[in-house]
Amino acid sequence: MSTGQGNIPDDVIEAVLARSDIVDTVSKYVHLTKQGKYMKGLCPFHSEKTPSFTVTPERQIFYCYGCGKGGNAIKFRMEIEGFSFPEAVKIMAEENDIALPEGQGFSVIPRNPEKERLYEAHELTAKLYHFLLKNTEHGKEAIAYLRARGMHDKIIDQFQIGFAPDRWDTLVQFLSKRNYDLKEMEKGGLLSARHESDGFIDKFRGRIMFPIHDRNGRVIAFAGRILGEGQPKYLNSPESLLFNKSRTLYNLHQAKTSIRKLRQIILCEGYGDVISSWEAGFHNVVATMGTSLTEQQVAIMKSMAEEVVITYDGDKAGLAAAMKVIPMLEGAGLRVRISVMGDGLDPDDYFRKYGADRFRHIIESAVSTTKFKLIYLKKHHILLEEGKISYAKEALPIIAVLNSSTEREVYLRELSSELGLSYESLKQDCNLLRQSMQKKMSSGDNKEKRWNTGRHKKGQISTPTLLPAYHAAERRLLSLMLQDSEAARYVSDKLGEAFNIDDHAAIAAYLYAYYAQDKPPDISRFISSLHDDRLEKTVSSISMMDTPTDWNVQVLDDCIREVLKYPRQKQIDQKKEEMMKAERSGDFMRAAQIASEIIALERQ
Ligand code: GTP
Ligand code: MN
Repeated sequence: MSTGQGNIPDDVIEAVLARSDIVDTVSKYVHLTKQGKYMKGLCPFHSEKTPSFTVTPERQIFYCYGCGKGGNAIKFRMEIEGFSFPEAVKIMAEENDIALPEGQGFSVIPRNPEKERLYEAHELTAKLYHFLLKNTEHGKEAIAYLRARGMHDKIIDQFQIGFAPDRWDTLVQFLSKRNYDLKEMEKGGLLSARHESDGFIDKFRGRIMFPIHDRNGRVIAFAGRILGEGQPKYLNSPESLLFNKSRTLYNLHQAKTSIRKLRQIILCEGYGDVISSWEAGFHNVVATMGTSLTEQQVAIMKSMAEEVVITYDGDKAGLAAAMKVIPMLEGAGLRVRISVMGDGLDPDDYFRKYGADRFRHIIESAVSTTKFKLIYLKKHHILLEEGKISYAKEALPIIAVLNSSTEREVYLRELSSELGLSYESLKQDCNLLRQSMQKKMSSGDNKEKRWNTGRHKKGQISTPTLLPAYHAAERRLLSLMLQDSEAARYVSDKLGEAFNIDDHAAIAAYLYAYYAQDKPPDISRFISSLHDDRLEKTVSSISMMDTPTDWNVQVLDDCIREVLKYPRQKQIDQKKEEMMKAERSGDFMRAAQIASEIIALERQ
């Protein structure tokens, strides 16, 4: 069957699904615990405190009762990594040594030879720069500089730090000797085109080179730091086939194991900060590389951890940057703490100045976001008489939103002793503020948005137990049909596609087509033939129901009757209304005629 999705042959999809166990796939991202036939965990796609994310090994699917996301292993990778369907299939095929047919038949995801060449060239270039730094005259000054910053060989190797000599053609020569197409290398960001004439020059010259890796550890870009002073301080590779800045986190490839284990990420801004943290023993550390945090980076972090410790610069810009990322991280359901370096130092400076022990201490004693907001606010108000009041005024709303009264008391007491204001009066103001906030909240139309920092929306939860009879019957039928082709054949004969809910009718139609190809019941495989997000979710949700697998004709007939009854009932209700209208307008002939129609319908 052609799946209508980029000509990926079914046997490839099936091989991928056969080798990618749903539990193994999900476990790489979500901590699952066994609960009877199911595995449960915290949903990686929305914020929640009690697990509603469910995996069924038997049916090879996942489904979240909270946000309604569901599907098979391929779908999970698409959702969690942001892959398209062909991308996910391709990557999963590669991971499982499944051969992908070349050329025709797989046209949507041809191996991209240009991309492969660029990966290779980046790998070689990183090796070259690392070698030049460590072993040649060119690297002498750079090595001295790194040593002066306290970096020793082991860490230089660990981060594959290198040096690009201050010459025009070191890399040009190196790459052309190896027959790389220089134009392609320019597009990939390793070289620059010459201005005046044809030809190419090295992009990075006289710079300390930090390779940037993707999460699988492949070099995809470089950051080059100038030796000493000068502009720009850091020169980065441009976005390319390999390098998507907004989806990259520096050092994620080395940090991911530790992040998954600790469920925590230490987030910094700079390369040096990452390297120093690593040296101090924190291996769950990544950086945003100077740019502001993106939603994609947040999503990546959310899929791996529960808590983020922000360790930005202790200067004004660093504090402001932290203020900006807190709501993004909290909005995704991550817990956030902030370690404040103080003295305007960045984590790297702090480590060099005070040593590993004090550095560790400052990371470990990271403060809550409330505490941090108060510290931040205080810096803005000089503690004069008026400053005190304006600080208190702005601090109170930060404290008032806290739901725990103990927490509120702790912060209010701190504020009171800091400002020399009475605790009682602060508490009173705080309570007044809470009241007015609550009033606003209950009258406002988007209270979720304002008060629930998580993305979880109520009302999205499907509650199959409270469904109308015909709806429940349709789900029950589909559930049995998904597990047994005989049941599907029976329903096909008796009911066809006469389901009342459009999506159910569509699923039935797909299912008939699926079985018509003599395929065995396999929910995960079937889902792959749908290519419709909503239908996939619905199938997953239906498959999570606890329907007994065994069925008989009686069970099916009961459900079918329920399904057929609904449109008739709807018709009867409609007729009754028409009849009342006719009576009210005095048209008794018409009313009597409708009454006989109703009787006929009820008899059926
Ligand atoms: P060092 O001076 O080597 O310790 O660098 P730093 O990391 O302390 O630099 P800084 O605090 O000035 O900047 C933080 C991060 O912003 C850096 O690690 C870079 O990722 C980025 N950055 C800084 N300057 C530049 C620049 O001139 N260009 C680009 N593209 N990024 C920069
Ligand atoms: Mn620094």
